[in-house]
Amino acid sequence: MSFKVTVLPAGREFLVEPGQTVLDAALAAGIVLPYSCRNGTCSTCQGRVVSGEYDAGQAPARILDAADLAQGHTLLCQARPNSDLLIEAREVRMADDIVVRKMPVRVLSLDPLAPDVMEISLQLPSAEAFRFQPGQYLEFILKDGSRRSYSMACGQLEDHRLRLHVRHMPGGLFTSRVFGVGAEPLKPRDILRIEGPLGSFFLDPDDSRPIVFLASGTGFAPIQAMVEGMLARGDTRPATLYWGGRRPADLYRQDLALGWQDRLPGFRYVPVLSEAAPDDGWEGRTGWVHLAVMADLPDLSGHQVYACGNPAMVEAARRDFIEQCGLAPEAFHADAFTSAADLARVDA
Ligand code: FES
Repeated sequence: MSFKVTVLPAGREFLVEPGQTVLDAALAAGIVLPYSCRNGTCSTCQGRVVSGEYDAGQAPARILDAADLAQGHTLLCQARPNSDLLIEAREVRMADDIVVRKMPVRVLSLDPLAPDVMEISLQLPSAEAFRFQPGQYLEFILKDGSRRSYSMACGQLEDHRLRLHVRHMPGGLFTSRVFGVGAEPLKPRDILRIEGPLGSFFLDPDDSRPIVFLASGTGFAPIQAMVEGMLARGDTRPATLYWGGRRPADLYRQDLALGWQDRLPGFRYVPVLSEAAPDDGWEGRTGWVHLAVMADLPDLSGHQVYACGNPAMVEAARRDFIEQCGLAPEAFHADAFTSAADLARVDA
């Protein structure tokens, strides 16, 4: 039997069919709640159940703290109702013409950006409409049905073309193909299948507070898309990008980030390395990238943050920015990259 879910504070309602999660049912009903991984590892979909019975799954106990669990916080991508529910959750305003689709795409080119980062350019079918908001991601649907998620690294389609940044995960089946390792290397003209656009990681057009972009590694990709979107719109909101890596090669498009400082009056770029070696000749900031933000901006109460990269960095930033710098919880927007290896560890 289906159950009704009511979302506070707006009071919007939708039905959840047997077996569906609250998040999937909301998205199917056109109500966009924040989400990223959809597999219980990132906590982006966290909401609070005010009343009603539900099966929370295993994930909340693993990644939410005891105090939040006691207050009814849960992961809406995992929660399945056993009765009607009243929940509290932030709703995301999505452009009306954005529709999630599956389609074939052709690989146009594979261009190395760093020893372990490849830019893939994809050609979409010209007959298919594909609109997205800068910052969203797509999923490759592989032959065995498994999926791999990558953010679009461009602010808009260019002649029905998309760009993605793929980091090589040693032993990873898909990324090894991308880097030509092992059997069946990916090459130009190959056809892949995608689903997208997905995710709620994009700029809130109604929020004029100064922006902190926080990226580690290929978490730069969706930030690139957002900044390109700002350039296209002439959006001059104050914005600072903190991009962290271990060594200089991890900051693989510094030329772009430095160029944005000239093209966007309110934009500033702060590169941060955590493992700079003496022969790198690095004279910039060092340490953990989210701590560099806290050193520069000890009071984040008037800011909004868009964080993307490895899950440990994103979670540390969420916790420390809110607890130590006064960031409003709803002003922290995140997209954590979970690899197939991360998921295997979660499932183990
Ligand atoms: Fe639910 Fe990531 S934990 S979307």
